Amino acid sequence: MEFLKKKLEKIENIFSHKIDNKVTKDVTSFYNIKPFPNYDESDNKATILNKGNKNYLAKQFKDFVGFKKKVLEVGCGTGQLSMYFSIGTNNEIVALDPTIESLRLANKFALENNIQNVKLVNADIFDEVLKDDYFDFVWTNGVLHHTKDPKKAFEITVKSLKNEGYILVGLYNKIGRIRTKIRKYLYKIFGKGIVLLLDPVLRNIKSGSPEQLDAWIRDQYEHPVESVHTIDEVLKWFHENKIKFISSVPNCTIDLDLNYNLFVEQEKGNVFYRWLNQFFMIFNFLGDDGGLFVLIGKKRE
Ligand SMILES: C[S@@+](CC[C@H](N)C(=O)[O-])C[C@H]1O[C@@H](n2cnc3c(N)ncnc32)[C@H](O)[C@@H]1O
Repeated sequence: MEFLKKKLEKIENIFSHKIDNKVTKDVTSFYNIKPFPNYDESDNKATILNKGNKNYLAKQFKDFVGFKKKVLEVGCGTGQLSMYFSIGTNNEIVALDPTIESLRLANKFALENNIQNVKLVNADIFDEVLKDDYFDFVWTNGVLHHTKDPKKAFEITVKSLKNEGYILVGLYNKIGRIRTKIRKYLYKIFGKGIVLLLDPVLRNIKSGSPEQLDAWIRDQYEHPVESVHTIDEVLKWFHENKIKFISSVPNCTIDLDLNYNLFVEQEKGNVFYRWLNQFFMIFNFLGDDGGLFVLIGKKRE
């Protein structure tokens, strides 16, 4: 396969590489029990399209990608976003994840919905199975902070990106995740009831499926491996890997307009504003949602 630099065996329609690393194995054991994010029984192309269109990051990304492009999702889980990116496009989507049970669900969904432009790869990002300078776009959201070395994982990921290609990386924020960290502590002492009460995401999905509730609780409060990061740290990763800063959420300046185009170059602001915006995450929708922050960059020679 063109997008692979190592020869991988195809098992049940999934390109497979043996997972050897201890930390990755711990993480995959966690997700193999309950793959994340879960599909509802009623999910089909229309519902995934609808969910994706409601996610402003994913929608902007898909619109910007356009057609006839090569897109990589690192840490795709059950592949819902990769499916979303593929629907109605002729893009080549490669969805990589070390958790086999998640990819089995992705494969089932793709087969049942006749999705043919998503290629599934069961591998650890650290095993470097993907070709260098191949993809036009890379999406890795909520993934690298669950690895043994997020910075190294980032370095490996950007190797697969073509010059002029774009990367979107989303990580737990050191400040923005403070509320979740406090709830995590309370969860350990008081159990599920307290987070059902305090977690805004759980309050929203309370009327939804119990499966969805459990998946979120496990992911946020029981995860065996997680780290937290800052905008300045990722800006340094960008600099060291020849990635030009394009934009971030939260943004890096005092401009409070949240309707900016994520793919139009924004100001990098200064350290003070960046910290201030990360501090505000504690109180805004970003902190509600687990404290994820996002940076978008463009590869340059
Ligand atoms: C919280 S889930 C996020 C799934 C998906 N990106 C989403 O936003 O719904 C984290 C995913 O990262 C994957 N992951 C963990 N360690 C990884 C590694 N070393 N290489 C690639 N993916 C990894 C896990 O298997 C899991 O599916």
